[in-house]
Amino acid sequence: MPKVTVVGAGQTGATTAHWLAQLEIADLVLVDVVDGVPQGKALDLAEALPIVGSDVHVVGSNDYGPTAGSDIVVITAGLPRKPGMSRDDLLAANSAIVRQAVEQSLAVSPQAIFIILTNPLDPMAYLAMKVGRLPRERVIGQAGILDSARMRAFVALELGVSVRNVECYVLGGHGDDMVPLTRHSNVAGVPLRDLIPAERLAAIVERTRKGGGEIVSLLKTGSAFYAPSAALAQMVDAILRDRHLIVPAAAYLTGEYGLRDLFFGVPVQLGRGGLEKVIEYTLEADERQALEQSAARVRESIEALKLS
Ligand code: 2OP
Repeated sequence: MPKVTVVGAGQTGATTAHWLAQLEIADLVLVDVVDGVPQGKALDLAEALPIVGSDVHVVGSNDYGPTAGSDIVVITAGLPRKPGMSRDDLLAANSAIVRQAVEQSLAVSPQAIFIILTNPLDPMAYLAMKVGRLPRERVIGQAGILDSARMRAFVALELGVSVRNVECYVLGGHGDDMVPLTRHSNVAGVPLRDLIPAERLAAIVERTRKGGGEIVSLLKTGSAFYAPSAALAQMVDAILRDRHLIVPAAAYLTGEYGLRDLFFGVPVQLGRGGLEKVIEYTLEADERQALEQSAARVRESIEALKLS
């Protein structure tokens, strides 16, 4: 059985383990610095598995010993946003946490593929790749599936159709200037622009961009976790099952979309080796401009890391 480590046993980490345990695709290790929390959540989850019928092992730990030999390490550890904060406000505190998680994971799982969720997502994925001296195939940031799923949910509600019929593609940085590509989004093959009046579509785009903040302002003490963790589970599944699945996610760009040396949300193909390919859409001028604006913001946060 493959092994997946989830670093951070908070709401997102624990819920990621929950989705993954149900998929029955890997043994799971939950790691967290808080004594008893990863152990308690892992034990509770293990005790749920006879009910749902899943034969994976789930353990919790405060150290990385039990994570040895992991195929995938998912990093969710870090502080979440509070109302009024931007994801970038978390940069300093979460850099130290991500750096340590990468170093300690690699020491015992030198071949692991890393999926990063900790915010601010794009610079944290960049940090993980640099700190771990990893090839870009082995570091992927989660954001695009989440942002696209929010848009899909809003479109399905608007039109009263199944979420299964709705395809949306949100690219760019995981910030409020992310780029929902309405031209590439569709319902059962029909472009959104033909189905939803322009002002309603603009409202959906805006709600998608601010989707994370909408949840933060409702929860007040934390950020979203069901949808982010479902997105993580889909990425793990795509990699372990070698699906060659194309999803939006943050990848290290080396010239695609005219961008290089940053992590940025683009369509990628995921398989057993991790990132198999970055897919390049043909973009119209306004779409390209929106992506460049988003990239400029991501660059600012990467520069704030002061890595070089
Ligand atoms: C979100 O968008 C937590 O950044 C995450 O909800």
